[in-house]
Amino acid sequence: MITIDRPLLTDTAHRLMADGKGLLAMDESTGTCNRRFGTAGIPQTEASRRAYRELLVSTPGLGRTISGAILFEETLHQRTRDDVLFTQVLEDAGIVPGIKVDLGAKPLAGHPGERVTEGLDGLRARLKAYFEKGARFAKWRAVFSIETGTPGPACIAANAHALARYTALCQEASLVPIVEPEVLMDGAHTLAECGEATHRVLHQVFEQLDQQGVVLEAMLLKPNMVLPGTDCPMQDDIDAVADATLACLLRAVPAAVAGIAFLSGGQPAALATVRLNAMHRRRGTVLVRSPWPLTFSFGRALQEPALAAWAGNDANRVAAQQALLHRATCNGAAVRGQYSPAMETA
Ligand code: 13P
Repeated sequence: MITIDRPLLTDTAHRLMADGKGLLAMDESTGTCNRRFGTAGIPQTEASRRAYRELLVSTPGLGRTISGAILFEETLHQRTRDDVLFTQVLEDAGIVPGIKVDLGAKPLAGHPGERVTEGLDGLRARLKAYFEKGARFAKWRAVFSIETGTPGPACIAANAHALARYTALCQEASLVPIVEPEVLMDGAHTLAECGEATHRVLHQVFEQLDQQGVVLEAMLLKPNMVLPGTDCPMQDDIDAVADATLACLLRAVPAAVAGIAFLSGGQPAALATVRLNAMHRRRGTVLVRSPWPLTFSFGRALQEPALAAWAGNDANRVAAQQALLHRATCNGAAVRGQYSPAMETA
């Protein structure tokens, strides 16, 4: 067992999983952020990225439904126009700052089409520096695609091992690790195939976490929802997705885990909210007694409407903040099972 500051870690984990709140993932790498800016006709510059992220972190009232914000390294050092560190703006709003610490998914040698996430070398020193700069949690994402024969055992084993070593290092550095194994939506696979692949991945991840001696009570899981592939002719309804997702998690995730916060994975923003809400309507019923708090850690499903509203123009700043706040509020309602589509037009 590793020596860790357990009270600090569990306190941070509980802050992140506070009732009615979820996380804002705004940790796009420079490449991903620039790609999204390019599609929206926004200049792909450091100045644009800073302006956009300032808009996000300084959205009035965001702390009512957002408990934590995942930043990219560049953002950890950035300041507002008034020269305040973004981390300080977040803390002042009651939002815990966190950081993405992996260095991205790279091709897995010998396994065409599969990827392994890199970033373990030198991670201990980086985590120490991130903590000193105010980060209190971290994120590492592994990706798995469903195709013929994939995700294969080598890809799952390599990524599960890396996730577990990252998790142990985070706990040693007093950062709450968010463990993100993402089974991608791309492809024509069925809901059942996604459930089977997600189960295999989660099963191995928890086996590796156990081997590395991590404290489950001081970590969060960030999984995909169990969904049919985007090209699957059979698009299952909301209840089927909620049931398949909860069934998969109940079988694979130990009850001691401090919380689960879903990624959105490219789902339309409102649909991600509806599905999250459906899961909460089932929780607490005799049928589904899930042991962990269950919330959102959305990137695109929170940000897309805000980015579209901003469009790189400072005159749209307030409209963009309202768009972000609206999605955060809808998802905050969903984690109480109180979302209704009428909120979209209210
Ligand atoms: P999406 O919600 O857009 O999938 O982003 C979540 C995330 O953190 C990806 O690593």
